[in-house]
Amino acid sequence: RKRNVVFSGIQPTGVPHLGNYLGALRQWKRLQDEAQLTGDKLLFSVVDLHAITMPQEAEALRIQRREMMAALLAIGLDPDKSTLFFQSSVPQHAELMWILSCTASMGYLGRMTQWKSKLQINNKQGDLSEDAMTKLKLGLFSYPVLQAADILVHRATHVPVGDDQRQHLEFARECATNFNATYKDILIAPETVTAPSPRVMSLTHPHNKMSKSTPNHRSRILITARAEEVRSRIAGAVTDSLNAVTYEPDLRPGVANLLELLSQCGHSGEWKEEASSPQQLADRYATAGATLKDLKADVVAAVWRELDGVRGRYLDFLNRKGGKWLDEIEAEGAEAARENAEKTMRRVRHAVGL
Ligand code: ADP
Ligand code: NA
Repeated sequence: RKRNVVFSGIQPTGVPHLGNYLGALRQWKRLQDEAQLTGDKLLFSVVDLHAITMPQEAEALRIQRREMMAALLAIGLDPDKSTLFFQSSVPQHAELMWILSCTASMGYLGRMTQWKSKLQINNKQGDLSEDAMTKLKLGLFSYPVLQAADILVHRATHVPVGDDQRQHLEFARECATNFNATYKDILIAPETVTAPSPRVMSLTHPHNKMSKSTPNHRSRILITARAEEVRSRIAGAVTDSLNAVTYEPDLRPGVANLLELLSQCGHSGEWKEEASSPQQLADRYATAGATLKDLKADVVAAVWRELDGVRGRYLDFLNRKGGKWLDEIEAEGAEAARENAEKTMRRVRHAVGL
């Protein structure tokens, strides 16, 4: 079959948590493993230009980009197999964004769910008062165009994204169609790679998803956690007073989350094998008359099978040669990505008349 080109991005939020890992990053590693057979081309970007749609402190952003890059390497992304780079190191992304902006529909952008929720936060009436207009930033409105450029500039055919990004992918396809219709048939409309990706819930508030933006550190497990930290976070995970294992996501979200984690973790070596579903696991615990304590002990072991070694590699990659090694890896990735993007941009500029 034809060689696929896979692109995906992650914001420079520092060290990822278990939700980021199980919901997104682990799939990147799987795609890289598969590419050994398929020869697919893989590009993974730390999307720092997207990060600045929200206020950032410069030095913190610089550190968080490096931390994310070291984390990607620590989970097994390999610069010899995947192109890893900071988005801002490849100016073709921003250049194509501008060109796409000139054929993208304001109306379409305005209908985006994430934008509409931002509008609602700023203005309960839903119309644009002068004050609301001032608070809202253009970059927040137009960042789906940058996302489209990220994908299209690399001629990606496949884009693994979470469900929340489905609409943005559809918009990227629209951007390609608009450009191609206006100028010349150059850009490739990508497909979404849909793998069922789990939602990892907060360990302290299991009705919400695990997230970096909640202040409670005990609600999440970072992928660089030590064994003792994994143990204490899982031990402290909120469940309920019924000391039996059942899978009832609505009634017992904390217990369901532990079963989901167990179902997801510990299969990294043989990921193609069918893992047990949370329901199957719950049935097994019920048959054995096992307690929540037994379940938690198994979750600790399973999560640790997944994370064992990540911390050591992360610290090594972050600090090797006083940090210079990581800069070199990023520079090499950026060069490969620029070369790839420039191939598209030469044709795009020519088609537009630039
Ligand atoms: P956060 O929610 O911590 O701000 P991001 O929004 O930066 O995380 O998400 C980065 C990636 O990780 C996205 O692909 C997103 O779908 C995935 N992700 C984030 N949180 C979770 C979670 N709790 N469970 C599953 N996937 C998640
Ligand atoms: Na988020």
